[in-house]
Amino acid sequence: MARVFSGIQPTGQVHLGNLLGALRHWVTDQDDHDCLYCVVDLHSISLPHDPAELRANTLEMATVLLAVGIDPERATLFVQSQLGGEHAELAWILNSVVFMGELSRMTQFKAKSEGRDSISICLFDYPVLQAADVLLYQGERVPVGDDQRQHLELMRDIAIRFNGRYGDTFQVPEASIPRQGGRIMDLQQPDRKMSKTDGSELGTIWLLDEPARLKKKVMSAVTDSASDVRAAADKPGVSALLELLSITTGAPVARLEDELAGQGYSVLKKAVLEALVEYLAPIQARYRELSGDRAEVERLLRRGTDRARELATPTLEAARDRVGFLPRAF
Ligand code: TYM
Repeated sequence: MARVFSGIQPTGQVHLGNLLGALRHWVTDQDDHDCLYCVVDLHSISLPHDPAELRANTLEMATVLLAVGIDPERATLFVQSQLGGEHAELAWILNSVVFMGELSRMTQFKAKSEGRDSISICLFDYPVLQAADVLLYQGERVPVGDDQRQHLELMRDIAIRFNGRYGDTFQVPEASIPRQGGRIMDLQQPDRKMSKTDGSELGTIWLLDEPARLKKKVMSAVTDSASDVRAAADKPGVSALLELLSITTGAPVARLEDELAGQGYSVLKKAVLEALVEYLAPIQARYRELSGDRAEVERLLRRGTDRARELATPTLEAARDRVGFLPRAF
């Protein structure tokens, strides 16, 4: 079975973009892949943060992943910082084949550092740690949203360069970005992606939003001044709603356009609302069950850590050897 690796930052809550762009594919990939899913807390110290909040969010994120359908019997679910430093050590080794210019060109780095007086080295080096995450496990397929495309291209370049310089060490991974849902938009600003940190309050749908909250957000979604229900480049708001409806009901956009022709935006919004409530209800119910059993979530994570460590060790040892470090037992 091909190896899948992906990660999510425990920064704040999970939103609909995370779910539709990435997590729902993490769930289906479990059927026919060997999957590793990681709560990447090492990444979450790259921007100013509150330590107590990070600790709480890390367990909370693991609970949400289980509620979404990550099955610890079939996938390895773990927290990045729980290993013994393997991710950070490989990132350091990979740093030796990465150039400042490459990292300076990363659009996420540019966006996240814009307007800040002091920018941490962690933020700059973030894509190298991300490469280490995947290469450490010989990951072949990386299910992510469209915003990770550039990081994945760099990851491939790093693997190819290291292999070229030191001999075959790493699998060269491939991004798996969904054609539909790879970039879920903010409902209030349909030209911007939904985001954990810089989205609008009403435009961001959280996984745990109750039906009343969902109603407020969906019914106030920005559309346009015409009224035809049609996906088009000059109708970003309507296109985004149709995409949400299509993903959550499984109906193709063209069919929805036919069904909703001439009915106006409020009918479209009501349909989206109904579909979302139904789509999120089972996840929310499972979350409520699991969040009462913190000990069980911790137990499952410990099991995941053991398996992850087992898989990471041989690759890290090979990379250490290739760059010329003495064996550990020396
Ligand atoms: P993160 O935590 O920002 O997001 C988790 C996943 O959600 C996707 N995503 C979206 N998809 C569609 N529409 C959106 N509006 C949207 N917003 C976010 C992201 O693309 C991602 O797949 N750097 C990564 C975490 C990471 C990682 C890794 C991923 C660290 N190491 C190794 C893969 C492999 C991040 O910050 O994702």
